[in-house]
Amino acid sequence: MLQFDTIAGLRQQLRSIRSTQSIGLVPTMGALHEGHATLLETARQENEVVVSSVFVNPVQFNNADDLARYPRTLEADYNLLDAAGCDLVFVPSVSEMYADSPLLQLNFGALETTMEGAFRPGHFNGVGIVVAKLFNIIQPDRAYFGQKDLQQVAVIRRLTKDLSFPVELIRCPTVREADGLAMSSRNRNLTATERTQATLLFRALTQAHKMLTGGHTTAQTKNAIKALFESYPAFTLEYVEIANADTLQPADEILAPGQTAICLAAHLGKVRLIDNLVF
Ligand code: PAF
Repeated sequence: MLQFDTIAGLRQQLRSIRSTQSIGLVPTMGALHEGHATLLETARQENEVVVSSVFVNPVQFNNADDLARYPRTLEADYNLLDAAGCDLVFVPSVSEMYADSPLLQLNFGALETTMEGAFRPGHFNGVGIVVAKLFNIIQPDRAYFGQKDLQQVAVIRRLTKDLSFPVELIRCPTVREADGLAMSSRNRNLTATERTQATLLFRALTQAHKMLTGGHTTAQTKNAIKALFESYPAFTLEYVEIANADTLQPADEILAPGQTAICLAAHLGKVRLIDNLVF
């Protein structure tokens, strides 16, 4: 696996590759886990060359503590990338990616007025800027994102369309621990007790799914999930939403198969967890 820390070096390496081989990109912020390995393995199957990036993008953090606490495990990341068949990894510094703080402001309209966008102002502006930069630098044929960040996928899909990037986006299913907890880099920041408690998110999603398919309304379902979280004082529920999985707009009934998303975000200690279930 070749490692690059400059935009010029990576561009130079990819120039000749691009004319004859397909490129799959797996953008990451490091602290890699089995979920990332699955994205890399899917990219490996569908492309001749797999490129990944490891960059904790400061522009997408609206909270300095969250940025400071974000886990950084670069040596282990290299091992996972190598084992998963990554060919080239891009690990730029902040000054390499942002010689100047970007002046560009991206506004994703209704896609970012709910859920993550509403609770993390500026987050999708930062995600959009860094993903657009990576698409420009790497010019992949395909890019792979996890379903756990469902709203991120919708925003990047729209970014790709609006800016005519010739990139096919692939949404890969969320990878879960045996007890249902969605894999996330932030799980590393949970204490042992919190790690056990964290299964509440998946249990809540399962309960909401059962209620909706059992004939309860979206309002009844959301209220039951709010009550469930209130009975666990270790948690502060930020939102529970039932939405269209593509537009992220609130849905007041079950939509066509594969279109309804139940989405949650909650704080547990110092860790903010999100999860969703699409059916
Ligand atoms: O999902 C992530 O890890 C990040 O938001 C991404 C897409 C790598 C952009 O920094």
